[in-house]
Parts: sequence; C-alpha cells; structure tokens
Amino acid sequence: MTMGLFRAAPPVISMPSRSPSLHWRYVERHSGGNMIRQMAAWIARNYWRFSPMNLYEKFERHRFDSRHGVDTQIDVHLADLNIDSPNKRHGNRYHATPPVSFRRVLKKLKVNLADYTFIDFGSGKGRTLLMASDFPFKRIIGVEFGEQLHRHAVANIQRYKARHDTHIQSLNVDATQFPLPDGPLILYFFNPFDEIVLRQVLANIRQAASASKRKIFILYLYLQNEELFQESGAFSLVFRWHRFDAFECRLA
Ligand SMILES: C[S@@+](CC[C@H](N)C(=O)[O-])C[C@H]1O[C@@H](n2cnc3c(N)ncnc32)[C@H](O)[C@@H]1O
Repeated sequence: MTMGLFRAAPPVISMPSRSPSLHWRYVERHSGGNMIRQMAAWIARNYWRFSPMNLYEKFERHRFDSRHGVDTQIDVHLADLNIDSPNKRHGNRYHATPPVSFRRVLKKLKVNLADYTFIDFGSGKGRTLLMASDFPFKRIIGVEFGEQLHRHAVANIQRYKARHDTHIQSLNVDATQFPLPDGPLILYFFNPFDEIVLRQVLANIRQAASASKRKIFILYLYLQNEELFQESGAFSLVFRWHRFDAFECRLA
C-alpha cells in the first residue's frame, strides 16, 4: 500500500542458484516475462543494425561523395521537383543506394559483366552509374524522370570522369517510355516506383526479351511487389541477399 512518501518495500526476491534456464524462467516469472520477450524480439529485428557490415556500410555511404568529389548523398522528395510525367504520383523519393552492398551484389551475379549493359531505372543523382563504372560493363545508362536529378547526375558524371575513365549516360526520361537496348542486360531498381509503374516496366522488359532472345537479369533493392514478378511468369528468382532480389528473365 502506498502512503504519501512511504511506499511499501518491494518483495525480496531470492534467486535460486540452479541451471541458467531455470534462472531465466525464474527471472521471467518475477520480473515481467513480457518485457524480456519484447527485448528479445527487438534484438532479433535490429541486430543487423549493429553488424560490422552495416556499420561499414553507414561509414562508406557518407564517405562516398567526399571520396569521389561528387554530390549524391542527400535525399530529394519528388514534391520538390518539376516532373513532367503522369507517373510522378507513383514515384518514390530520391535516396541513394548503399555502396558496399551494391558492389557485393554485382559480384554475386557471377556473369561476365563485360558482355552486359547496366541500366538503373530511376537513377536519380547517378550514384549507381558511377559505381557501376568501376566494373567492366559494356555500357552504363541511367533512366531518371526528374529533370533536376538528371542534371545533377550529369554534373556528377563529369566530375567522376575527371578522375576515372568512364562511359556513362544519364537520360531524362520516364521509365515506362524507355526502350531497352539490344544485347545482354543487367537492370537495376532501388524501389523507384509503385506497382502501377512497375507492372508497365516489367511488361516492356518481357516484350523486349521475347523480341530478341538474350540474357536479362534484374537486381531489385527493397522489392515490395514480388507478386508482380510471379504473375508475369517471365522471371525466375536467382538469389536473395540482404534486401536484394535477383531475377533472370526466362521465357519458354
Ligand atoms: C530510391 S531512388 C533510387 C536512386 C538510384 N537508383 C540509386 O539507387 O541511388 C528512386 C528514383 O527513381 C526515380 N523515379 C521514380 N519514378 C520514376 C519513373 N517513372 N521514371 C524514371 N524515374 C523515376 C526518382 O526520381 C528517384 O530518383
């Protein structure tokens, strides 16, 4: 019972000194099992945040710009941009790909990159294009509908070119209007738009693949609509790694 400043003393809990599992069962019973379960669930959900890879990723993503003399890090909301496309309302804000996992996931594809054109759908300020140019791709193309973001990418490419020998192109075009070039392709998406636009883009890819048979891979970071890949019947999952899904376009 509580009386003014004087509160009843908490019950003295005597701890049994037996096996660790008995100990934890005892602690759980006497100190609120719910709290322990919540803590365990939080750790299970968040342990990756403290993994060495994630800490390294955080460090590298902030260092990328100063290291290469470019400007790719800061997010941009589409509401702040002039975008001449009905798909503006289906698009997601600019947020740059983390560099460490991007490089790792490209290596996981285990193909001869020199045979492939790399295309980033929704390339923003062009960070992936710069990073892709460190690999021996045949061509590198960015597709971005935000004019200011595209101009930003062009400036970044110029700055990067001054230091590296690159062959990159940024195009100011809506992803649904971009005709796929010939030859083997690696198509990259970092959660650029919703399912309305993704469905159209996947249909274009399927059509291009059936018009000319070649290898086409899709690397998708933060895929929200996996059912669209399944529905289409043209894509098989090659691997999953961290937040990336890799598909190959395979038509019967
Ligand atoms: C999450 S950011 C990814 C940026 C870049 N790909 C990267 O990984 O660093 C998504 C980008 O997609 C662009 N975007 C959204 N809808 C688009 C569309 N329909 N056509 C072209 N670009 C689009 C946005 O303007 C934004 O720059």
